Amino acid sequence: TSTFPLYSKKDVSKHASMESRVWVTYEGEVFDITEFIELHPGGSRIMLAAGGALEPFWALYGVHKNEHVLEILKEYKVGEL
Ligand code: HEM
Repeated sequence: TSTFPLYSKKDVSKHASMESRVWVTYEGEVFDITEFIELHPGGSRIMLAAGGALEPFWALYGVHKNEHVLEILKEYKVGEL
């Protein structure tokens, strides 16, 4: 049983800048990755996914197909879709 709040895709889309905080989704979960932006090894490209799904970008950049990346993402979970 999950204790995370539920959000809609529309809710997530409102968090697409540093000012409004940066949220993304992955496999039905919602993450606030604002604090990770400056730590991202791939630089500011990460902002392309701001307010939406990671899947299309991670399909392009296979470097993310890695348990280590999911461990990082997990730390930033704030909700579910
Ligand atoms: C590299 C995490 C989103 C583009 C990496 C690496 C990590 C990471 C850990 C280093 C992987 C390694 O070398 O083993 C994340 C996380 C993301 C995210 C946690 C979302 C929360 C994105 C997005 C894009 C992207 C949306 C593109 C639009 C890249 C690129 C690299 C990279 C191009 C390779 C950088 C290089 O080696 O020069 N990312 N990433 N990432 N990421 Fe991301």
